[in-house]
Amino acid sequence: MTMNPSLLDAARDVMRRAYAPHSHFRVGAAVRSSSGAVYLGCNIENASYGATLCAERVAIAAMVAAGDRAWTEIAIASDADPPATPCGICLQVLVEFATEGRVLLAGPNQCRETSLGALLPDPFVLRHGE
Ligand code: THU
Repeated sequence: MTMNPSLLDAARDVMRRAYAPHSHFRVGAAVRSSSGAVYLGCNIENASYGATLCAERVAIAAMVAAGDRAWTEIAIASDADPPATPCGICLQVLVEFATEGRVLLAGPNQCRETSLGALLPDPFVLRHGE
């Protein structure tokens, strides 16, 4: 593992705490903010399905609740090879708090690095001075 093993390790570690009784697809996310702090999230499913929270959004929620407003890097771990990419809703939430950022994707055997700009090249944004 050459790309930021600590952030990937954190994502793989929190993935074990996923609550995924419906899909059995566990996801872990570790986001590093511009302050250097790392925030964690795992997916939290719901019997209604629609109320399910993705790991990335749980990590971003933890970051904002802690007082950070910008991220620079996120690692996302799952059991998918090739590694799973963030869903469209998560990409939209990620772009709310970064104009660009490194995205590390990890499966059990494969990892790849991409970027927010590559995954969401032409996002909808409303910037209002916050
Ligand atoms: N999931 C995530 O946690 N992140 C994504 O970006 C895509 C999907 C979760 C939601 C659900 O619990 C499971 O993966 C299957 O969709």
